[in-house]
Amino acid sequence: MTGEIVVAGASGSSGRPLLAELLRQGVAVSAITHSADGAERLSALGASSVRHADFGDESALRGAFEGARAVYVIPPVLHPLEDEFVINAVRAATGAGVERFVYHSVLHPYTPALRNHLRKARAEAAVRDSSLRWTILQPSMYAQVVLAMLNGGGPEVSVPFDLEAPVSVLDLAELAEVGAKVLTEDGHEYASYELAGPLTTMKQMVAAIAAQRGVALRPVLVPPTSAPLPPAALEKPMAAADMISTFAHYDAHGFRGNPAVFQYLLGRAPNGFAQVVDRELGNR
Ligand SMILES: NC(=O)c1ccc[n+]([C@@H]2O[C@H](COP(=O)([O-])OP(=O)(O)OC[C@H]3O[C@@H](n4cnc5c(N)ncnc54)[C@H](OP(=O)(O)O)[C@@H]3O)[C@@H](O)[C@H]2O)c1
Repeated sequence: MTGEIVVAGASGSSGRPLLAELLRQGVAVSAITHSADGAERLSALGASSVRHADFGDESALRGAFEGARAVYVIPPVLHPLEDEFVINAVRAATGAGVERFVYHSVLHPYTPALRNHLRKARAEAAVRDSSLRWTILQPSMYAQVVLAMLNGGGPEVSVPFDLEAPVSVLDLAELAEVGAKVLTEDGHEYASYELAGPLTTMKQMVAAIAAQRGVALRPVLVPPTSAPLPPAALEKPMAAADMISTFAHYDAHGFRGNPAVFQYLLGRAPNGFAQVVDRELGNR
């Protein structure tokens, strides 16, 4: 195969580790950004090739995909037009004659109570119905996102859903390994891979952070409607509504997946939350 791999949405929390992994492997990669801040984050990562396009602009995307042998599409978190963005990317990749298309989705996209998941289900359908040689990755909750949410001050830590609800949490660095694998290896076309980390709970994750920091932390349940929102949902009513609904859904049902497929693709058991905490907070 010749040509670069192009990553769209590369400067975000999922994209940066993927880009770093591809660069580490010496793969020719180009990153797409639509913002000056994103371009700065990408050059700080060492990206030598940066292309500019907005997910809302199909012809700009097509230009950015020209000559690529594969594209990896990561839509922005909690964006109300995420499905339209992915459909634009599908059309652009088809028009640009790209061979391989990887869509970064979510675990359990068809969850009728959650608009943010349903947008991904709709986008997945468009990906599958295309003529592209596609792969869909369906990751569970990110350990690094939970860590950022829980690792503020203390001694009380606000938790926006049931402390004992079972949730599957994965390491973004390992997700990046799998992303690089499906982009660079044959044999992953027309696969939808559920990628779940090991099951844990918010109570156990707070305890893992406390143990690493050597401090006492007490998880305190706060109602989803008054929980602190992540930056992507601040001052954005639609995104905030989606985040609150997601917290409420986890509160009632958890977010459970099976790590077998992730383990198969990684070639080893996936990291648990405590291992991620040790690496991220302990500089290991
Ligand atoms: N958080 C989790 O636990 C979790 C779990 C599973 C799946 N996911 C899903 O994973 C996906 C990626 O999440 P993330 O946290 O990496 O997202 P993110 O941080 O929002 O990153 C996505 C990137 O998209 C780019 N972008 C935003 N608007 C754009 C536009 N109009 N045109 C082109 N690019 C645009 C931004 O980069 P530039 O500014 O450089 O353009 C941004 O860095 C989301 O769809 C999320 O739902 C998240």
